[in-house]
Amino acid sequence: MSTLPAVDITVYPYECDAFGRLNQAACLQLLERARWESLTGGPGADVFTRNGVWPAARHTSIAYEASALPGDVLRVEIETVKRGTTSFGLRQRATRVRDGVLIVEAELAFVCVDRIGRPVPVPDEVGRALGMPTGGRDVRRVHVEGGELAVEVRGTGPALVFIHGFPLDRSMWRHQLAGFGRWQRIAPDLRGFGHSAGHGGVAATLARHADDVAAVLDALGIRRAVLCGLSMGGYLLLEFWRRHAERVRALVFADTKAEADSAEGKRGRDAMAALAEREGSLAVAERMLPKMLAAASAVAQPELAGAVREMAFRASVPGIVAALAALRDRVDSRGLLAHIRVPAVVVGGAEDALTPPAVMQALADGIPGARFVSIPAAGHLAPLEQPLAVNRVLSEFLDGLPASD
Ligand code: MLT
Repeated sequence: MSTLPAVDITVYPYECDAFGRLNQAACLQLLERARWESLTGGPGADVFTRNGVWPAARHTSIAYEASALPGDVLRVEIETVKRGTTSFGLRQRATRVRDGVLIVEAELAFVCVDRIGRPVPVPDEVGRALGMPTGGRDVRRVHVEGGELAVEVRGTGPALVFIHGFPLDRSMWRHQLAGFGRWQRIAPDLRGFGHSAGHGGVAATLARHADDVAAVLDALGIRRAVLCGLSMGGYLLLEFWRRHAERVRALVFADTKAEADSAEGKRGRDAMAALAEREGSLAVAERMLPKMLAAASAVAQPELAGAVREMAFRASVPGIVAALAALRDRVDSRGLLAHIRVPAVVVGGAEDALTPPAVMQALADGIPGARFVSIPAAGHLAPLEQPLAVNRVLSEFLDGLPASD
């Protein structure tokens, strides 16, 4: 595996013991100093914090091979030797520059934790900085009628497609795209969002978005897929089932519902569209944010609000306005649920203010054989707020699927 940049560190007199040799506890600190120096010279010392995680040390084994003296310059090489979903292992070797003698070799195990100490998946940027494989990340451009979608494709195996919510993009699935190594993970930016190109005069109805997803499957040579959609992505799944049921292997509904908008809800869509046209896409994010995250997430993971703002910022105003019309005009799908004949699961935040648990329970109750799994301490963006818990549900569901035909 690749390495962080090597760094040269000088042994200070105060790091040495009564015999004038580098003290073993000070040696550990020296290795820590080398890691920070290496991050500073490579991806930046804030690579963890800007991704909202911290590396918590879990285990260290160290071999003191030779003595070092004050003024010795040690070259410390750092290599990533292990990777897990939430953890990684580093090997550090310090050799004296003047004679190449190996002074110390250590292996350290770290777990990525969030602000409140919960293990979280190693973020992509951190993984890349540490030279970890990112699962063959590949962003393709897929031509659709009147536009072009950016589609992230990772790994190989049976197809697992992730459809984002409003006003977001495929990056909301970062923790799911990073896992599920036995699956080919596919996440499009819907037209008008993320890095996908505009509308080309084609109205971006839910039917159009559903046909775009079918076009993505065609472009990748996929006949059937497991589809997973959050909120607007879930509405799209229902539309996809209406139009392309034969291409669906299983459905995962996240923080979504089957009902259409109420009259008041429809008026709210028009007001939101006017806001977007007047003040831009960020204003839409600001309006929605108070209802998007669980109280604990908003406090403990402030970077999530930043991620929502960035996603909204990437969306085009025409894309947002078109999606709001599509959301406003979507039909009530409750009558459709009893006709869903593939395995399905509903998962969502216990504190989702936009699609409350009772609404998600009703969605699950309507689909033969489906169940609802409520995720504690998560709001409307459960896959981002509680990625491990959501991934566990998804993993269990995928493991239980009948073999693909
Ligand atoms: C979403 O997250 O996609 C939106 O909350 C959908 C909606 O407003 O109905």
